[in-house]
Amino acid sequence: MRVESLTDYFGAVICAENGETINQVDIEEVKNLFRSSGAVYFKDFNIDIDGFEAFGNRLSNDFMDNTGSGSFRKTANSGNDGTIQNVAYVYGVAKQRTFPLPLHADRSYVKSQPEAMFFMCARPAKTGGETTVCDGIKLLDSLSEKTRKLFESKRIKYIRYYTKEEWPVLFHTQDLNEVKEYCRENDLELFINDDGSLRTEYLRHAIMSNKYTDKPGFVNSMLIQLWQEEGLGRMNALVRLEDNSKIPADILHEVREVSESLTVNLPWRSGDFVMVDNTRLMHGRREFDDPDREVYVRMCRSVDW
Ligand SMILES: [Fe+2]
Repeated sequence: MRVESLTDYFGAVICAENGETINQVDIEEVKNLFRSSGAVYFKDFNIDIDGFEAFGNRLSNDFMDNTGSGSFRKTANSGNDGTIQNVAYVYGVAKQRTFPLPLHADRSYVKSQPEAMFFMCARPAKTGGETTVCDGIKLLDSLSEKTRKLFESKRIKYIRYYTKEEWPVLFHTQDLNEVKEYCRENDLELFINDDGSLRTEYLRHAIMSNKYTDKPGFVNSMLIQLWQEEGLGRMNALVRLEDNSKIPADILHEVREVSESLTVNLPWRSGDFVMVDNTRLMHGRREFDDPDREVYVRMCRSVDW
């Protein structure tokens, strides 16, 4: 295998050479690259969903589904552990939605945030649709002192609303007691409204430590939740400072500008996949215009290395 750098400060690319298969990849080297660089992209191994699952299983036996997340996803490996899911947004629409997704760390709005994200491309969009990544350590280092100080001194509050039709789908249960238990386990404050709808609130720092370095990063779900509110006009996922005030516009402007300047597109090809440290990096996707884009995600709750 040939190893290249994704950028000069984070990320590695492992390229298959001479018909090499994914089973021949040195797993200890993969772990080392992941620890030191935060993301490992696998190019030209041409794997399918079964191969993607088998490779993940060599690195962890602790994967999770997306119960309690903001989006409904279809399971791709129902015959096995059911943790590989199609990222396509299809809830309530005939064709998948193709909008861009701002940077975020999956489930950073609850305590059960996975340590690593695995993404696999079965079919790239004809144009656009790249998965994006951004190193939270570099991003934090690049923010102004004023912005850093604000997020060091104040936590952010993730607020979510679920209609009575939505919560059974997103929490994967009809039983409100199971939702209460999930909220207890995740340190979410739960509010049950008279009309059967729910609201949850979660306080957390936007700056987060990570497992493999001693440098904190700007890693959170602020931009994606604000985009839902400001870009889509939806009021079901909000983010505020812990005193309930809005994040100041100049601060947000800076976060958006600096993070975009540090965002890297992953050039998807069929059968490629990537592992991303979800405590150090944020990810998103570029816009596309192709309903057949097919990308899968598997969330790894933890690794024992
Ligand atoms: Fe995501």
